[in-house]
Amino acid sequence: MESFHVERLADGVHWVGVKDWNRRSFDALVPLPEGTSYNAYIVEGGKTALIDTTNPGFEEVLARNVNAVCGFDAIDYVVMNHAEPDHAGAIAYVLERCERAKLIATEKGAKMASVMYGVPEDRMVVVHTGDTLELGTKTLRFIEAPWVHWPETMLTYLEEDKILFPCDFFGCHTPRGMYDDEVEDIISLAKRYFGEIMMPFRKMTKKALESVMGLDVRMIAPSHGPIYRNPSRILDAYARWTEGYTKEKVIVVYVSMWGSTERMVDVMVDTLLSRGVQVCVYNLATADIGDVACELVDSRGIVLGTPTVLGGMHPVAFYGAHLTRVLRPPIEYGVMLSSYGWGRGAVRQASDVLSHTSIDVLGIIEVNGPPSDSDLTRVKELGELLADKVKGMA
Ligand code: FEO
Repeated sequence: MESFHVERLADGVHWVGVKDWNRRSFDALVPLPEGTSYNAYIVEGGKTALIDTTNPGFEEVLARNVNAVCGFDAIDYVVMNHAEPDHAGAIAYVLERCERAKLIATEKGAKMASVMYGVPEDRMVVVHTGDTLELGTKTLRFIEAPWVHWPETMLTYLEEDKILFPCDFFGCHTPRGMYDDEVEDIISLAKRYFGEIMMPFRKMTKKALESVMGLDVRMIAPSHGPIYRNPSRILDAYARWTEGYTKEKVIVVYVSMWGSTERMVDVMVDTLLSRGVQVCVYNLATADIGDVACELVDSRGIVLGTPTVLGGMHPVAFYGAHLTRVLRPPIEYGVMLSSYGWGRGAVRQASDVLSHTSIDVLGIIEVNGPPSDSDLTRVKELGELLADKVKGMA
């Protein structure tokens, strides 16, 4: 479904983005249960800037929205905060139709624009932190923010209206609502997005947040999801997430073929709950990986459960463990539960994956066939240790 609604944010400032209600996957990796938006903005101050563009396939929707504000050929500058195609995919289309428009990008961004979108050097202006672009009555200031989440990323700040355009930073995948207060679960959506996209770059996102905290921001207009007219909501959340603040919470990710691993998981979960630990449980055979990423953001412990199959971890559990490794959550403690029939391998492989994380593996319980009562007693004892660690009592 396409949208031709154009939203006025301030005098001379309009949202001209696209709401994509039908998209269900991003990067062939991240599930999008409800779609997303590709937000773009027009700033007019005498001269006109388009901030970010749109995903391939939505060029004409963008053009119609821009035309509703100022005429597509009135654009003098296209600000590319980020080179990924969901925001920069229409750059060639726009530059072709706006003959005098120049692309504004970081040094790395300009190189990417050349390689990915064929933008010639004489159509680009490279900017660095602190550089400004005078539009007449309005001023855009640029802040390099590398690795949120690509190396070329930057933030754009509209000084007169105190509006920050941070592209992916502070975003979330939903086409619902224009403003944060219209989307009840926006912080959950933003947390899921942080886990999926930003968490692997937590140190760099913390630096970028510090840059933002030095600005007087009245509104945050990201390039996915609603616009924050209450910026403190998302700034407070990002302060926690970028810091790596964790809760007395354990995420349990497991898969089970014939119920042996699951029986151990059940005892582990009951033990943790009985000790006052928050628990979230995901059977990886059916889980939404975005939900898992969301809970990884502030879990202090992890339980990984997998049987041995074909000489190693169940492939679905391997995928979950690998994602946990590459998303780099601030988890401190972990335990493994495993079962096998006639040959081992899962524990070795899982240990190898977790050895590349900073997770302190407190214990591993591996059983042959269904767990016996004494096996389940060991699971309970390991659960008690994990609970004590997570609660800071051991
Ligand atoms: Fe929304 Fe990194 O692109």
